[in-house]
Amino acid sequence: MPLAIVVNKRDAEKVKNELLEMGLLDDSRKIKRYGDKVEIPVFAVPNIKVNFEIVEQEEYLERKVFLPLEEIKELLKGKISREDFEKLPRKWEKLGDVLVIKLHGIKEKRKVAEVYAKVLKCKAVLEDVGGIKGIERKPCFKLVYGKDTETIHVENGIKYKFDVSKIMFSSGNIDERIRMAGVANKNEVVVDMFAGIGYFTLPVAVYGKAKVYACEINPIAYEYLKENILLNDVCHLVKPLLGDCREVAPRNIANRVIMGYLDSIKFLPYALEILKGEGIIHLHQKCKEEEFPHHLFNEAKKIVKEHGKEAEMIFYKKIKSYAPRIIHGVIDIKIS
Ligand SMILES: C[S@@+](CC[C@H](N)C(=O)[O-])C[C@H]1O[C@@H](n2cnc3c(N)ncnc32)[C@H](O)[C@@H]1O
Repeated sequence: MPLAIVVNKRDAEKVKNELLEMGLLDDSRKIKRYGDKVEIPVFAVPNIKVNFEIVEQEEYLERKVFLPLEEIKELLKGKISREDFEKLPRKWEKLGDVLVIKLHGIKEKRKVAEVYAKVLKCKAVLEDVGGIKGIERKPCFKLVYGKDTETIHVENGIKYKFDVSKIMFSSGNIDERIRMAGVANKNEVVVDMFAGIGYFTLPVAVYGKAKVYACEINPIAYEYLKENILLNDVCHLVKPLLGDCREVAPRNIANRVIMGYLDSIKFLPYALEILKGEGIIHLHQKCKEEEFPHHLFNEAKKIVKEHGKEAEMIFYKKIKSYAPRIIHGVIDIKIS
């Protein structure tokens, strides 16, 4: 459901500019003013200091999705076959100024992609032909319009530079990236075992001001991780480490370990070695919906016990559906 935040009139202008800078202002919906309140549409709940109330904007449910599509249909009407016209994708993912869409069964892919790029203000369009694959989570995308697929995607005030054709970026994980912005503090040492381009590392450093060791096995993702550390001005806090986290992660050092990988349970023994005695582990896992969180936690608890420590589940959340009856979830485990 499209969200908005309600703030006092006197804070509205400042908040609006903050949301704009954070890439969280949804300008496809109108700002509403009533009495001394202002209702500002947002993509996600912002991490801002002003008091605000969160509201759902039911009236936009339909309109928000279709507007651009109407414009696209207008431009393509009579220019492509009826078959293609009826298959025009209603959903897409805009990362920076690069678009990712599914064009199943459409014959005139380039002509269609060109119009989507024009209406959605993108320089390139990638066709999603196979989702995300392999341990390095590489996208199976094919370029159908434009040349350059490298972009900077701004989310929650964080700049993520990457090549959309080579590196995954799951918009579905936005709430978890925003949650990670609020979990750590400047006295903490954090190890991110599966850092990628800095999905979690950057919010933890930029907002938590914690010291972070960020491990990444994919050299391409690692190069972008280094660039993003510079782009977000956290060189003094983040140490990137290229390689398998089982080999390169420092041991007995962390208060907090982030395991942003869909099969993290296999790496839990390593996370326990990385922790400085006690601490928090954020364990991501893809698992059967009915097994989340308790069956997963019990599996983790057994491993922790085998390593002579105690485990307590202090938080859990389903992040997104991964496949029918399979979810991607996260559990926060307190180790003592
Ligand atoms: C893509 S990220 C996960 C996405 C992230 N959790 C998010 O929310 O968007 C997983 C990263 O872990 C890296 N990776 C996989 N196995 C690894 C290992 N053994 N050591 C270090 N990095 C690894 C992959 O290359 C990939 O960049």
